Amino acid sequence: MTRLFVFPEQEALGRSLVAAGGFAEGKWEWRHFPDGESHVRVVSDVKGEEVVILCSLNQPDAKTLPLVFLVRTLKELGAAKVTLVAPYLGYMRQDTRFQEGDAVTAPIFAALLSPHIDALVTVDPHLHRIARLEDIYECPCTVLSAAPLMAEWIGAHVARPLIIGPDMESEQWVADVARTVDAPYVILHKTRKGDREVEIILPDMAAHKDRMPVLVDDIISTAGTMIKTVTLLRGQGFPQVACLATHALFAGDAYVQLQAAGAGPIVTANTVVHPSNGMDVGGVFFLHG
Ligand code: R5P
Repeated sequence: MTRLFVFPEQEALGRSLVAAGGFAEGKWEWRHFPDGESHVRVVSDVKGEEVVILCSLNQPDAKTLPLVFLVRTLKELGAAKVTLVAPYLGYMRQDTRFQEGDAVTAPIFAALLSPHIDALVTVDPHLHRIARLEDIYECPCTVLSAAPLMAEWIGAHVARPLIIGPDMESEQWVADVARTVDAPYVILHKTRKGDREVEIILPDMAAHKDRMPVLVDDIISTAGTMIKTVTLLRGQGFPQVACLATHALFAGDAYVQLQAAGAGPIVTANTVVHPSNGMDVGGVFFLHG
């Protein structure tokens, strides 16, 4: 049976995968020396085994080195295959040189990681200017989607939804969700002005007044996108606006700010552990093998 090594934050998801019978538990240790360097130790015997590492790559600067230490050590100790399951794959949004001299970190990050791993599995990676993960990752990649979970949540909680995508990139999963729940959808036009500031154009939504807007996006980071959209929708008289996203990055006080803007309910998948988690991606990994 494949052995699963889990990074600390992902323990609840890891336990549910082991309990569902899909994996044997992989034991390892990660601590910091007094000088801040990582000490990584593999405890389980992995000789000849296929192993999976579950490590969501939010806060990637802190996790990438220990992840590489773990992968390399598993290989040195005889693991036959190491698959990285990164429910959230970081550094996908910096996919072009926005300003002269910018590091285009998506391919650089991929080039750092992929020589060490044999396969990569992730959920809703931010594929925008990069069409396929294989364009930057050298290993076989499997891309899963939380869209079916979003559709399921909407079907159970919203009687007459109107699905809203805040920008062109969101159409890939918004269209899918809308089709599944048999609801109309609207894609907005967004211009990013800075890390936290976006400009969004909301058309006249009078034709949809009897519906509840449900914003659907892949990532909530500063929540600037959702806050602006919620504010515009409430300005047009919609009393309740639901916000659904796959990855709950919620930088700083973004969650509180989004609540303060009048959003609710706010529901995310557990690719990144957060109080808003209300959709479990555990089943998605099994459904797709
Ligand atoms: C960007 O195109 C993504 O799909 C999200 O819309 C974006 O990452 C959200 O970022 P923020 O929460 O900082 O507005």
